[in-house]
Amino acid sequence: METAIRTLPVFADLRAFLEWADSQRDLLRIADPVALRHQMTAVQVAALQGGGPVLRFDAARHDDGARAAMPVVANLFGTKARVAAGLGLDCAQIHEFGDFLAGLRTPAPVDGMRDALSRWPMLRAALLTRPHIARRGAVQQVTAAPDLTQLPVQTPWPGDAGPLITWPVVITRPHGTEAAQVARYNLGVYRAQVLGPDRLILRWLAHRGGAAHARTWARANEPMPVAIALGADPATLLAAALPLPETVSELAFSGVLRGARADLVPARTVPLLVPAHAEIMLEGWVHPGETSPEGPFGDHTGYYNAVEPFPVMRTSAITHRRDPLYLTTITGRPPDEPSVIGEVFNDLALPVIRAQIPEVRDLWLPPAACSYRIAVVSIDKRYPGQARRVMLALWGMLAQFSYTKMVVVVDADINARSWDDIAWALATRMDPARDVMVLDTTPMDYLDFASPREGLAGKIGIDATTKIGAETTRDWGQVMALRPQDAAFAADLLARHAAGGR
Ligand SMILES: Cc1cc2nc3c(=O)[nH]c(=O)nc-3n(C[C@H](O)[C@H](O)[C@H](O)COP(=O)(O)O)c2cc1C
Repeated sequence: METAIRTLPVFADLRAFLEWADSQRDLLRIADPVALRHQMTAVQVAALQGGGPVLRFDAARHDDGARAAMPVVANLFGTKARVAAGLGLDCAQIHEFGDFLAGLRTPAPVDGMRDALSRWPMLRAALLTRPHIARRGAVQQVTAAPDLTQLPVQTPWPGDAGPLITWPVVITRPHGTEAAQVARYNLGVYRAQVLGPDRLILRWLAHRGGAAHARTWARANEPMPVAIALGADPATLLAAALPLPETVSELAFSGVLRGARADLVPARTVPLLVPAHAEIMLEGWVHPGETSPEGPFGDHTGYYNAVEPFPVMRTSAITHRRDPLYLTTITGRPPDEPSVIGEVFNDLALPVIRAQIPEVRDLWLPPAACSYRIAVVSIDKRYPGQARRVMLALWGMLAQFSYTKMVVVVDADINARSWDDIAWALATRMDPARDVMVLDTTPMDYLDFASPREGLAGKIGIDATTKIGAETTRDWGQVMALRPQDAAFAADLLARHAAGGR
């Protein structure tokens, strides 16, 4: 990217990022034996809840007590600061970077040379979107037998069905494309249950890019090539986790995030190009119609999912570095690592949302509400009925809010990220009979068992804004506030007394 804002070095691979974390004293190496079944989860949960460092387990243990063949890395993006760092940024620059991304989506026509130069970061970003095809890549230093049981795969929760690969970057392309057409690739993070030495289940939900590609191969009745990058570089991991529109290539976008083009190499046994600097690559095929019951596994909702059939991938090769690292995470009741990532994505998406709904001041997807089920939005309110228009716009215009079952709209003077402020607005600006809008039979993810029918549920919108015009016939209350000079006087007085008291 080399926008004016990128401050950190380019992280070409996971280990470069770990070295940086280490230099910040934000990496903890654990030499003690830790069991991959359940025990490691407890360490990850405790570290995440304490805002702790990246964890590197040097002596992970399989069920039979055998020491894992490679170190296990966890809690990579366990803090907002590390997610920002994965984007090459400091936390304070996330909003600015969001503006930059919104600008990339809607490039204004260039007007004269000066204007063109001022857009240099955008042009440079556009160039970084073209992946580079290399002949050799570290990820292919070793070609191993396709035996998944050799990998240190966690079984995270007590009720889980078995070992689960939790940070896979699943690479697919649609039927009818060539391997070289990388702009058509999809990268998504879809958890993968290990069934045996050469079989795993890919849990891509029906609306994901990977699932859309699978349908094209199934229609043609042909096996689909799939590659799974384990331990990709931070930009690839974050680009794959971002809900980008289908028209935007994650590989291209990762170049913008990384500040350097993606390096790809041809996979050994499938017609796909794969990230050259990943730690481990799984290659294989999904055969039309072959599925297996997946789960149950603990999920980001805080509950175990129902068992559902998902496609099976048969591995044809595993390649890896000479000294690979295995990257893992866990999903559970928030906060978990994906919810920390979600908070940063929330801030990144804000300028794009504002471009479509300009009165939006701020928008918060509380992590505790699974990062998408509840949204709180503050608006510059100017006319009666505006809060409802904003709710409908969020649900209708922006696909990412399809599964947001509650939208609360507040005025711009309310901090949309503070439950105390939200509660005050609800308590003083909302009438349940007038200000609640309930919709029914709208889309909902199958993970929500509170909805009466799988895939269909209600939505609730709560207008907690000040009522104006025809919205009320009563005089509205006036918000109390101290005079600024009195507040300053008090702060000064107390500071002087505190200093004197010491
Ligand atoms: C750690 C982690 C695990 C995830 N697990 C799944 C999963 O099992 N299934 C799924 O459909 N999405 C899962 N997601 C969310 C998707 O990866 C994410 O929405 C991504 O943007 C989907 O990409 P796509 O829009 O290209 O399909 C996970 C995300 C993270 C960060």
